[in-house]
Amino acid sequence: MKAVQQYIKKNKKRQLDELIEFLKIPSISNSPVYKKDVKKAAAYLKDRMKEAGLDKTKIYPTKGHPIVYGEKIIDQKLPTVLVYGHYDVQPPDPLELWDSGPFEPVIKKTKLHPKGAIFARGACDDKGQLYMHVKAFEAMNVNNEIPCNIKFMIEGEEEVGSANLEAFCKKNRKLLQSDMVLISDTSIIDNKVPSVTIGLRGLSYIEVEVTGPDKDLHSGVYGGAVANPINVLCDMIASLKDKNGKINIPNFYKNVVNLSKKERDLMNKAPFSITKYKKGLKIKEVMGEKGYTTLERASIRPTLDVNGIWGGYTGEGAKTVLPSKAYAKISMRLVPDQHPDKITKLFEKHFKSIAPKGVSVKVEPHHGGFPAVTPTNTLEYKAAHLAMKESFGKAPIPVRGGGSIPIVSMFEKVFGVKSVLMGFGLNSDDIHSPNEHYGLFNYYKGIETIPLFFKHYAELKAKK
Ligand code: BES
Ligand code: MN
Ligand code: MN
Repeated sequence: MKAVQQYIKKNKKRQLDELIEFLKIPSISNSPVYKKDVKKAAAYLKDRMKEAGLDKTKIYPTKGHPIVYGEKIIDQKLPTVLVYGHYDVQPPDPLELWDSGPFEPVIKKTKLHPKGAIFARGACDDKGQLYMHVKAFEAMNVNNEIPCNIKFMIEGEEEVGSANLEAFCKKNRKLLQSDMVLISDTSIIDNKVPSVTIGLRGLSYIEVEVTGPDKDLHSGVYGGAVANPINVLCDMIASLKDKNGKINIPNFYKNVVNLSKKERDLMNKAPFSITKYKKGLKIKEVMGEKGYTTLERASIRPTLDVNGIWGGYTGEGAKTVLPSKAYAKISMRLVPDQHPDKITKLFEKHFKSIAPKGVSVKVEPHHGGFPAVTPTNTLEYKAAHLAMKESFGKAPIPVRGGGSIPIVSMFEKVFGVKSVLMGFGLNSDDIHSPNEHYGLFNYYKGIETIPLFFKHYAELKAKK
């Protein structure tokens, strides 16, 4: 592994230059406008994977955006790791809040990234993190030190719910056959405090439409006498949570697995500064469900949040109008054992039941995903632990993450295969926000750690 690490050190500039080119392609998956760019990003990735030495590199079309595949089979008797990542990105808006173009990567130093960070949409989520795997693979391949079989499956629809991934996996069972999935699409606590993510929240995402009169009305002539759908929607949303931050939907908490006091105590021992947290977000106080800490609220507890709300007149100046329609996009983050479809149904039933007679309500489910927990007593987790310990010089802490990655539960359900979430971002890297960035330290640390993971995994498997 010494040669591998030396090779990585010697090729730092090219590792970064190639990522910069990748980041220039606006592979935004949620809008048909960028379909060509998404395709271009897939092609770029496939070419780099081929160059890195992967075999059978191929772009597989789906009903949505394509999936990029590549593999290196060393020996059928060795274990096989499937590397998963996503090359699609979130839309960059609001553009005016970016200090530089979202697809014009620049490197700048920040307080948390004194060695510099690369600023661009997708830098951390997930182009930067998935590209670490391509470069780590190249380093192992050039030096003939690949300890197990490795497959890459990189998709282009993660940010929109991975709708076509399950069908692809079911259709290509043999191709994707593997012993575990390795994913770098999560965070560590701090550059000095490594961690491995051992759980993710699920998701139910819903759009609602509230309709009052069939057209916008004069708010003087009709105001006060006719239901205003925006007022009504606000009331309805406000009623979804009580004053303690508990969600008011009947049976919402029915399947929530409550953690033991011991588990909660352990989790709250993880280094965390509420002062720094507030400062980083420029807020004076945190808010959330009563009886839980900030760390718990953002990982082991379910949530309900409005992601967007609109309707009526939003142009410049004033227009006196009683709107016909109001809309909102609402997400619920789920924890084990909540079922996304069941929660969506509970929401729909409840939301319709609280609508006053003066309006009609439409509820349209978007994508969802199951929550996931990965056990820590497995050889897969152990390998991540050892790899991180070796590269950071410090044992990683197991943490539950608050975001969602639909493939984790899907892969377990379809193939019975567990995932390891060995990400290298920081929660403060502004993923999905303006000025997303990824520390150069984190990028290179990832490239350095990944070969160690394969080494430990293969060794542990061989001993078993
Ligand atoms: N990489 C994130 C998820 C994440 C980020 C997990 C940080 C843990 C820590 C992923 O790309 C993402 O944003 N997922 C979506 C899921 C979706 C659209 C179904 C999410 O969590 O909103
Ligand atoms: Mn991601
Ligand atoms: Mn994301």
